[in-house]
Amino acid sequence: MKDSCMKRITIAIDGHSSCGKSTMAKDLAREIGYIYIDSGAMYRCCTLFCIEQGLVRADGSIDAEGLEARMGEIHVSFRLNAETGRPDAYLNGVNVEQRIRTMEVSSHVSPVAALPFVRAAMTAQQQAMGREGGIVMDGRDIGTAVFPDAELKIFVTASDEIRAQRRYDELIGKGEAADFDEVLANLRERDRIDSTRAVAPLRQAEDALVLDNSHLTIAEQKQWLLEQYHRLTDEYVH
Ligand code: CDP
Repeated sequence: MKDSCMKRITIAIDGHSSCGKSTMAKDLAREIGYIYIDSGAMYRCCTLFCIEQGLVRADGSIDAEGLEARMGEIHVSFRLNAETGRPDAYLNGVNVEQRIRTMEVSSHVSPVAALPFVRAAMTAQQQAMGREGGIVMDGRDIGTAVFPDAELKIFVTASDEIRAQRRYDELIGKGEAADFDEVLANLRERDRIDSTRAVAPLRQAEDALVLDNSHLTIAEQKQWLLEQYHRLTDEYVH
């Protein structure tokens, strides 16, 4: 009875790279029956498109003009993977979930995501996905630019060494060759570019709740997030 009259809110989870936002966001969405959207995966898909279509120059810079002319060819969608119970990213109908998580994509994604026309296209798609509420979206600018009116905003962070260790373990766990120092340098560089870009930089929304999860387990952070969700939605019911 209580659930049926419960308002379906918008939940924005932002923060630094590799701080466990997507684990938190996915778990919460599954628990409360909301849709989960990984906005970072969308920027990673744009980056994979650049790599595969020869839009990354030999010096590592992006052919922005070439990309802008072809933005209409990039269609990102998500479909539930029955095995993992989590959504996989699709680029133009092809499952690219594995390929977008490589270090090669990580090393080019922040310059691609800083391009204003890329942000405009992805932001419009994200807003369309969240029009009905009942969504958990994670990224860098969700609480500030995509859904500035989100009812629940969380800003997650953790020390950079701990974040690098988590990402390194994740890559090794997937059987990828990884170098800890390279992972650490990559996440520091992405944080720098993400925080200093002109359009929708990474920053904490004024009304966001801050969570430093450096010393929290996945179970503890899940519990914390569920408490925030219930505290808020219970207010709507009473
Ligand atoms: O997994 P990780 O936290 O390291 O990164 P991600 O969430 O997959 O995002 C990859 C990159 O996409 C970030 O470093 C940002 O450059 C960009 N991004 C963004 O600009 N805006 C978002 N809302 C989400 C990601």
